[in-house]
Amino acid sequence: MNEKVNLWKPEYMLDIDIIDEQHKGFFDLCLKSAMVCESARNKPVKLSDVIRLIYDMRGYAFRHFFTEEALLLKYAYPKIYGHMSQHDIFLRTLQEFTAELHVELAKAEKAGPEGFLACANHINGYLTTWWGEHILNTDQDYARFMRGQKGHAAKD
Ligand SMILES: [Fe+2]
Ligand SMILES: [Fe+2]
Repeated sequence: MNEKVNLWKPEYMLDIDIIDEQHKGFFDLCLKSAMVCESARNKPVKLSDVIRLIYDMRGYAFRHFFTEEALLLKYAYPKIYGHMSQHDIFLRTLQEFTAELHVELAKAEKAGPEGFLACANHINGYLTTWWGEHILNTDQDYARFMRGQKGHAAKD
């Protein structure tokens, strides 16, 4: 996989600087994760690196959702509850994935890393897709709301 690949797309831009930076950062983690999985085809991959990436994603998601929800609260976004629920679902799914990874990691000691890496690949695909769709469908909605708010600058 080419290092220059960028999973972020211009249509993800919300024009809210801190949020756009955080969204890009998560895609960078997804790309890093995809590259670790890809490299496993040619050379042994350090399982601890894959685990580290998952935990980085988890921390990143927590921080981003905290930032975003504080903004929704500040602007009294009317759909805040539904939006927070979507974040909760993501975190719950990530928690389930992490548990699956631990099971595969235990198996990998005897059976090799194939199952673990397949699991990591699947998780990575899910996270990347979820992140992109959530930005396009849900985050863009609050960005439009904020732009429509009289007296509030969108760049916060
Ligand atoms: Fe969101
Ligand atoms: Fe977001």
